[in-house]
Amino acid sequence: MNKEKLSIVILAAGKGSRMKSNTAKVLHNISGRPMLYHIIKASLEISNDVTVVIAHQKERVQAEMEKYFDNINFVVQDAENFPGTGGAMKNVTPKNEKVLVLNGDMPLITPEALHGFITTDADIIMSIFDLKDPSGYGRVIINNGVVEYIVEQKDASKAELLTTTVNAGIYAFKKDILEKYIPLLSNDNAQEEYYLTDIIAMAKKDDVTIVPLLVDEEHFKGVNSKKDLADSEVIMQERIKTAFMQEGVIMQLPHTIYIESEVQILGESIIENNVRITGNSVIDNAHIKAGSVVEDSIVKNSDVGPMAHLRPLSNIKDTHIGNFVETKKATLKGVKAGHLSYIGDAEVDEGTNIGAGVITCNYDGIKKYQTKIGKNVFVGSDSQLVAPVTIENDVMIAAGTTLTSGTVQKGNLAISRAKLRTIKDFYYKFFEKK
Ligand code: UD1
Ligand code: MG
Repeated sequence: MNKEKLSIVILAAGKGSRMKSNTAKVLHNISGRPMLYHIIKASLEISNDVTVVIAHQKERVQAEMEKYFDNINFVVQDAENFPGTGGAMKNVTPKNEKVLVLNGDMPLITPEALHGFITTDADIIMSIFDLKDPSGYGRVIINNGVVEYIVEQKDASKAELLTTTVNAGIYAFKKDILEKYIPLLSNDNAQEEYYLTDIIAMAKKDDVTIVPLLVDEEHFKGVNSKKDLADSEVIMQERIKTAFMQEGVIMQLPHTIYIESEVQILGESIIENNVRITGNSVIDNAHIKAGSVVEDSIVKNSDVGPMAHLRPLSNIKDTHIGNFVETKKATLKGVKAGHLSYIGDAEVDEGTNIGAGVITCNYDGIKKYQTKIGKNVFVGSDSQLVAPVTIENDVMIAAGTTLTSGTVQKGNLAISRAKLRTIKDFYYKFFEKK
């Protein structure tokens, strides 16, 4: 099936009250991106007509998604008059003959997992799974292999509640089926909502073909609570890390590592335990040691940590970053910064050594300033570089120097120290101990 044959509608208009949050449910993050982002991304791989239905916090949801996508349609649900998943479908006008309806709270779906909905030919294909604990889901009543109806938990009788076959919440409809039944839905139920799921009972009466597809919870889990969010995160992380290990990345105690969905790890990189890598970071043939955090940064042919913090826009190449070093908007090429430093808004060139405790003082309380350090510079321990400052090639900065604005020229030594005084027997006089 090609992209032109399938339309996808993603229902993302609900409040998500069970999340107990001021943020719309579909904007909660899984592996660094909103749940809805993951669903749209998977959808665009199999369809050229993706519609997102919004209502609750609609401006915010749309603006968030438009940061990432410019080829999706937004439809606003009249949630006041037509609440519920059926109400959400009212204003939708899909272009293609088959319409896949996805819930916006299923961040774990993949194009491969949706394959069955595309290849099966029926008027309605619906997703089911069997759960030990079906609570929260709509129950699917099947007799002799034939789907009869779906009943929501809040409307179910005691006998119906015992059913462990549940509606996973994904359906493929022929377009004319939707056009026929959506206007016929009523809100005569416990929640006074228009349930999309009621289509099944109506269609069954009319002898429409309904095929149930057994799906797995690992791809079709719905997120309704913060606990579901955490459980889905574990599954997504497992997926992300497994893919990297299959590509040759070494991970030590992978269950302690967190890697966001857009991160790239290339070559034979090593990621030690308790590492966190976020945003659009690229780790290329690098060794990230235990407890380090890398945010939106590039690390190539370098080793970092343990317990280093690369903040956004660090660009680290052929470099050694040791423990307790923090960088931010800093380009380091061929550098050694072994211990306890802050290097922010800086460029540091090859052959340069940054001693322990060196700090770029990049902020005066109002503005940020740049530090430029050339090649083969030796910056002695505990120096403060008060930016803006430029250090040319082949310079020595003596330990403990406070370097204020200006340029240190090639070949020079900069030293700022109070002259050492020693006062004989001061200790004994002070404590009157002699
Ligand atoms: C829904 C199904 C249930 C199924 C479950 C699977 C219905 C009536 N029930 O229940 O059978 O087992 O999914 O996860 O469909 N939404 C709107 N507009 C609304 C209400 C909801 O767009 O007015 C969206 C939500 O943003 C969400 C999705 O529809 O992404 C599902 O809504 P939710 O409230 O989570 O439905 P469930 O109670 O989980
Ligand atoms: Mg749900």
